[in-house]
Order: sequence, then structure tokens, then C-alpha cells
Amino acid sequence: MPELKIAPSILASDFGRLGEEVEAVIEAGADWIHVDVMDGHFTPNITIGPPVAAAVRRHCTVPMDVHLMISDPDAYVDAFADAGADIISFHVEAARHPHRLIRKIQDLGCRAGIVLNPGTPEDAIEFLADAVDMVLVMTVNPGFGGQQFIAEMLGKIRNVRAMIGDRDLEVDGGIDDRTAAEVIAAGANVLVAGSYIYNSPSYLDAIESLKIHGR
Ligand code: DX5
Ligand code: ZN
Repeated sequence: MPELKIAPSILASDFGRLGEEVEAVIEAGADWIHVDVMDGHFTPNITIGPPVAAAVRRHCTVPMDVHLMISDPDAYVDAFADAGADIISFHVEAARHPHRLIRKIQDLGCRAGIVLNPGTPEDAIEFLADAVDMVLVMTVNPGFGGQQFIAEMLGKIRNVRAMIGDRDLEVDGGIDDRTAAEVIAAGANVLVAGSYIYNSPSYLDAIESLKIHGR
């Protein structure tokens, strides 16, 4: 299995001190910074656009992992690549031509990820699995931080791991020190965590308590 990576989601950070909050989790051992982009259309919430992603980039010394939860990802990948994204992931439910969009993201010089909502079976990406750099299995429904982990996703994580060999398999939603052990055992190697890390009194202890399950 590829190396375990922890990707704090800045959605749970103090946006009034965003730069400091990015630097603080990197100092505490974050491997990637996860940026949750919502449009109020694909998701019931609105969050971050390209200018804020570009501001995050200026404080980010690790890969910036942009998760597009938007209805028309094709229209925005150039803007997020310009903002400095290293990885751009989009939802298979949202893309009209997902295979073409994977290639477009890669042509922009970024790694391409494809995302599955909890209700979407892994068969949806069967013919995309060889083209993508990463698969993200949502372990909550996209829209908000702080939701409860959906345990039925463990079977999907196992199936996706069997499809993608040693490429990155990311999970997102409801990850804490307990669910981290379960998703890692099922085959996940990139753990997004928002509220668990940013609501913790010590970012260092929180990140360490996730990393320990990979040793
Ligand atoms: C959900 C977002 C997640 C979210 C994770 O729509 O994609 O990245 O911020 O938050 P927690 O870790 O609080 O569940
Ligand atoms: Zn996310």
C-alpha cells in the first residue's frame, strides 16, 4: 500500500486566520492541504473559490489538494490549476465527460482525482480507474464538515483498492482516530480530516493520532 498521508481540510479552520492555520497544520505534520470547493448547487453549501485557493497556496509548502464539489468542474479546472493546485479531484456524478476531464487536469500539470459520493457504486469508475492518479471515496455526503462517518463505505474502499493497485486512495468525512484505523485497514492511504484536527487543542497530537495507525 502507498504511504499514509494526512490531509487536513481547511474547511474547519479559522478563516479569519487562514494563512496561519495552513502553516500550523503543516508544522504539525500535515502531508497535504485539502481545499473543499462548494458551489451551492452540487452541494447545499458555498465555500472557497480560486482567489482564496491562491491565497492558501502562498502559505502552503506541501501539495495543495483541491476537492471540487461543483456542478460544472470542467469550467473551473483551469482557474484552480492557475491558483496553484497540485491535485484536482472532481465528482464522477458531476462531470459530463469524466475521462476527458481527467486528461485535461493532467495536461494542466496537475494530478487528477475522481470522487465517489456515498450513493455512487465503484462500478461508475471502472473504465476510468487506469487513467486517474487518485480515487477519493466520500465517507459522508458532501456539503459540511463535522458529519458522521458512513461505515458502509468500508466495503467500497476495499473494492476501490482492488481496482487501483498502489495509487492513492483518499477518504473524506468523519475521520478521527477511531475511523482512521478502519479506513486504513480497508485500504485507504490519504486521510482528509477537518474537524478532528482543527477542533483539537493540539494539531500535532491530532495528526500523530491518525498517523500512528499507518505504522
Ligand atoms: C465534506 C468535505 C470534507 C469535510 C471533512 O463535504 O468534503 O472535506 O470538510 O470534514 P470532517 O473531517 O469534519 O468530516
Ligand atoms: Zn473534501
